[in-house]
Amino acid sequence: MSLPDSVSILGGVSLDPPLHVAVIMDGNGRWASARGLPRREGHRQGVEALRRAVRAAGDLGIKVLTIYSFSAENWSRPLEEVNDLMGLLKRFVRKDLAELHENGVRVRVIGDRKGLDADVLALLDEAEQLTADNKRTTLVVAFNYGGRQEIARAARKAAEDAVAGKLDPASIDAGTIEANLDTAGLPDPDLVIRTSGEQRISNFLLWQAAYAEFVFLPIYWPDFDRAALEAAIVEYRRRERRFGGVTARTGS
Ligand code: IPE
Ligand code: IPE
Ligand code: MG
Repeated sequence: MSLPDSVSILGGVSLDPPLHVAVIMDGNGRWASARGLPRREGHRQGVEALRRAVRAAGDLGIKVLTIYSFSAENWSRPLEEVNDLMGLLKRFVRKDLAELHENGVRVRVIGDRKGLDADVLALLDEAEQLTADNKRTTLVVAFNYGGRQEIARAARKAAEDAVAGKLDPASIDAGTIEANLDTAGLPDPDLVIRTSGEQRISNFLLWQAAYAEFVFLPIYWPDFDRAALEAAIVEYRRRERRFGGVTARTGS
């Protein structure tokens, strides 16, 4: 049975997907340790889970999928692990970019580009440029990303505009900051999923997740699959989003 583009059927219940799902892909190391394997193997399997997640998100009609792939704080890991993660990112882009492009996925990268190796930068640029006009799904890759750093960069840009006489400081409001964030033009996440059982935000989309629903899944990221994504969406659909008001709003 083939599923319609924007609706999945789960036990007879129609699964209306949120517009934007963001994922904190956590637990690769513990997945590996539990099997007596090196952490590197957990990260390798994590890439397989990422492939499943992108495919499932497209099938379910999710328009924007954001993945937290490397945080601004992840540099504090042992150099060998940082190198493994950089290598996996490069391999993912090299191997999967053509397929993502064929499947109508637009890639957008958020996070600080400063300090990244030239080969990593070139691949991220290539991914964005090749897929810029695709419309089916947007895959937002948060790489060297930190929410605080992103907000600070946005504030700096606004300050620079003010000094240059292009912006009246008295007019600065939330919209000004939003327009200067890496995510400018993207909708806020409706649903943030974190795997591994940890229940924290770890500097992810601090600004954008102001009214997101959070679902914490008790599985390690390498075990993530379409069923896990559907379970998170079912839980999301049970929530009542009020956005500070008194009556529920569906959001998206
Ligand atoms: C998530 O898994 C991957 C990245 C942070 C890049 P972890 O490597 O954090 O795995 P745990 O949390 O140590 O199990
Ligand atoms: C968050 O996971 C970062 C990514 C998933 C890329 P971490 O494993 O780095 O977060 P903490 O250290 O447990 O908060
Ligand atoms: Mg972790």
